[in-house]
Amino acid sequence: MTNQHHGTTMSVAARAALETARRRTLRLTDPVTDADLVAQHSRLMSPLVWDLAHIANQEDLWLVRTAGRRAGLRPDLDPLYDAFRHPRADRPALPLLGPAAARDYLTAVRAAALEVLDGADTSPDNPDPLLADGFVFGMLAQHEQQHDETMLATLQLREGAPVLHAPAPPPAPADVATLPREVLVPGGRFTMGTSTDPWALDNERPHHVLDVPAFWLDTVPVSNAAYQEFIAAGGYREPRWWTPEGWRHVRTAGLEAPLFWRREGDRWLRRRFGVVEEVPPDEPVLHVCWYEADAYARWAGRRLPTEAEWEKAARHDPATGRSRRYPWGDAEPGPEHANLGQRHLQPAPVGGYPAGAAPSGARQLVGDVWEWTASDFAPYPGFTAFPYKEYSEVFFGPDYKVLRGGAFSVDPVACRGTFRNWDFPVRRQIFAGFRTARDASGEGRA
Ligand SMILES: [Fe+2]
Repeated sequence: MTNQHHGTTMSVAARAALETARRRTLRLTDPVTDADLVAQHSRLMSPLVWDLAHIANQEDLWLVRTAGRRAGLRPDLDPLYDAFRHPRADRPALPLLGPAAARDYLTAVRAAALEVLDGADTSPDNPDPLLADGFVFGMLAQHEQQHDETMLATLQLREGAPVLHAPAPPPAPADVATLPREVLVPGGRFTMGTSTDPWALDNERPHHVLDVPAFWLDTVPVSNAAYQEFIAAGGYREPRWWTPEGWRHVRTAGLEAPLFWRREGDRWLRRRFGVVEEVPPDEPVLHVCWYEADAYARWAGRRLPTEAEWEKAARHDPATGRSRRYPWGDAEPGPEHANLGQRHLQPAPVGGYPAGAAPSGARQLVGDVWEWTASDFAPYPGFTAFPYKEYSEVFFGPDYKVLRGGAFSVDPVACRGTFRNWDFPVRRQIFAGFRTARDASGEGRA
């Protein structure tokens, strides 16, 4: 393929990714009343109308002004929609664009951005790293999808009748009863991160080789049934399962079950996008914070996997020694591989998606629920901030824990085997669960 041809391919891919993101943005907000768009459904979240205009403003800044070198549509709005300047709790008090004006801004910016894309040289040898391989267009498609996920979390927090509807995910496959409880990931070197994935973000780069000792990993994420055993065993009342910070948090926040759960008689009920239903025992547990995941693992006599262990289990192919883009290979995610892209409004039962299994036999590493890891968010050796420090660098350090693998709420464009998410260890409104691991010292050295 010539570089020019390659550039055309990346332009087509960029346009498709931007259009997919926009369809989702509208699907999330079109059925919502103006009153609900401007309301703050939780102090943890922005009003939806802030996300709408922020998506437009970032596209105005990065695609129209920076990539296109044009004057832009509303540079005067930059301070208002700067996420660093205004914490979420303060955003309702700002003089925000109303729903109609926010939607008009989105449409007008998109038209200008697509004109920029049409004229852009997205070949890999463009010396401008923002334009090479269409990176900045891919970055903005991922940005919009990440706000779509945030808006989905806002709609989960929102009280009232449902506005979203989707079919149930596929039932567990027939072999689920015979799956081993855990899989062995052999010890040895593996390549973590990427230097070549064209739309990978700065924190996923560069690739580097690590020696990861053998370990055992849960074949599937921890289920609601397993988590209920932890609750029933008094897990929330036993300080020995918790780190000191985790125990302080459980006490002050009064945690006794995952967010959105409530006890009724001898059953657990949950609220899911406005529907109250019995907690399904065979689904991965969802809406638990890092402290809860960590405490469960200790109670089970295990631990959370490190980020490197998670990525090795998801990407390392012992047959070739190379790291795959996804657990199943390099093919783009299809509906047979993983529960991604908000096709469903819940995780699939544990054991699902056998076609998406990793070489180790672990399933659902990608899709269904984000998985908390034991690791703090830290730069890889040789990290360079791109295109700005606030993308990742300002978040490095012990305040944030890494999550991996994406969830039903994540679009494939913002989910790779190398993709890193991070959040505070107290966060529960995100679509996060976990699986556990243990050392395998001396076993399975490859
Ligand atoms: Fe943003």
